[in-house]
Amino acid sequence: MQNEYAIQTVDLTKTFKSKVPNSNAGFFKRSKTVSINAIDHLNFEIKKGELFGLLGPNGAGKTTLVKILCTLLPPDSGNAYINGFDVVKQQMKVKQSLGTLFSVGERGFFWRLNGYRNLEFFASIYNVPRPKRQERIMEVLKLVGLENSAFQLYQKYSGGMKRKLALARTLLPDPPIIILDEPTTGLDAISSRNVRDFVQKTVRETGKTVLYTTHYIEEAAQICTKIGILKQGRIVASDTPDALRAKIKHDETIHIVIEEISAAQIAAMYSLQGITEIIEKIDQDLMPNQKALCIELQSVDQLPSIFEFLFEQKIKLVNFKRDEPSLEDAFIEITKKA
Ligand SMILES: Nc1ncnc2c1ncn2[C@@H]1O[C@H](COP(=O)(O)OP(=O)(O)OP(=O)(O)O)[C@@H](O)[C@H]1O
Ligand SMILES: [Mg+2]
Repeated sequence: MQNEYAIQTVDLTKTFKSKVPNSNAGFFKRSKTVSINAIDHLNFEIKKGELFGLLGPNGAGKTTLVKILCTLLPPDSGNAYINGFDVVKQQMKVKQSLGTLFSVGERGFFWRLNGYRNLEFFASIYNVPRPKRQERIMEVLKLVGLENSAFQLYQKYSGGMKRKLALARTLLPDPPIIILDEPTTGLDAISSRNVRDFVQKTVRETGKTVLYTTHYIEEAAQICTKIGILKQGRIVASDTPDALRAKIKHDETIHIVIEEISAAQIAAMYSLQGITEIIEKIDQDLMPNQKALCIELQSVDQLPSIFEFLFEQKIKLVNFKRDEPSLEDAFIEITKKA
């Protein structure tokens, strides 16, 4: 199968049956069964070496997709390929190509063993060569920042430490493709940043492919080379973070602080072409001769005419800030439209 892709899905579909309240029926039929298209004829691909962020609201199908890709859940129809291997027909090859961190729970660890011993157990399951095990375990513990807690009992680990150990387990066999389902959920700010830095560095330096699901939009924007937005089991947008930002249409807004401007000059500024709104802001920190204005423009092309006006009128510009549309705005707009 097409090997330029690390991950590929073709018309992938997974439907669940779920019970919902049945308001029209009597006591004995209080619920009815409905079908939920968790993954709905999904077609998308991730190139080798890409750090792909998968965003989507709750229930969009992210975890279901992750489970299908790592062979935990069979699809109803369609195909999915990991490193070119079919997730249904070549499960062994898929498992060898993949390391997966699941979003829920840290199941599978032994509470009465320390972190090191736990990883030793998984190293044997993942066939990490015996002479290399110790070195590899210490390496991954260091990568996730647990080297100083390696010999502490798992039951004494905090939630974040358990999450880190789960990440260390994912990395243990050194797979070419890594799937991380909400890796930073439950981690403190420093640990989250460490995970992000680590993922980004890994992709840059080793050429591994990472599929990274998250609810933190700006987190995805910071590190991912490409972002896909999933809604009701379908990818509704897929592009670079910058291109997604650019996709949302919005008026340009700037904030300026200026000195010695009269009401007449503000009115004159209003009449400049392309200015749709000027709002005077109340700011306690300003000097008596200063004014803070929020100016809405039809497009960024009108910016030079504002600067020219200020220059001609000898109005001193003290501060300038341009509103950038955030990826969160793009995410909300795209998911709403879809
Ligand atoms: N085992 C299951 N049985 C029935 N329905 C399920 C099952 N697993 C998932 N679903 C449904 O499939 C849909 C997708 O769920 P999934 O867990 O994949 O979403 P998600 O994008 O991971 O959400 P979140 O952001 O909350 O983690 C939801 O409507 C969910 O209720
Ligand atoms: Mg999920």
